[in-house]
Amino acid sequence: MLFLGSANRDPRKWSDPERFDVTRRAAGHVAFGAGIHLCVGQMLARLETEMIVAALAARVERIDIVGEPRRKVSNSLRQFASLPIELKPA
Ligand code: HEM
Repeated sequence: MLFLGSANRDPRKWSDPERFDVTRRAAGHVAFGAGIHLCVGQMLARLETEMIVAALAARVERIDIVGEPRRKVSNSLRQFASLPIELKPA
């Protein structure tokens, strides 16, 4: 079984894998799986995300984490149970 959350942070593939870096060349990530079961909805998901982030960026100056992030325990995915944030309008 492939652990997607772990593979996307594999230091043999990614330098400084824990650092969020929007400029990172992300080719080869497995967030949408791989091979024959590759996510069929990924184009929709990418489009929706682009639209949401663009709409947010036009209205919000900054996003701050204002509380303790709580992880949700999972064997395969990395995820949060809660991540309290505050949006500062532009
Ligand atoms: C950010 C959003 C999404 C993420 C991170 C994601 C992630 C994934 C991953 C990792 C797999 C592979 C699972 C495996 O190998 O067993 C998968 C499969 C799949 N996804 Fe997504 N997905 C997303 C959005 C969507 C959307 C919007 C749809 C439908 C509109 C969708 C439909 C599917 C389907 C039908 C499969 C099964 C494909 C197959 O087994 O051949 N996904 N997705």
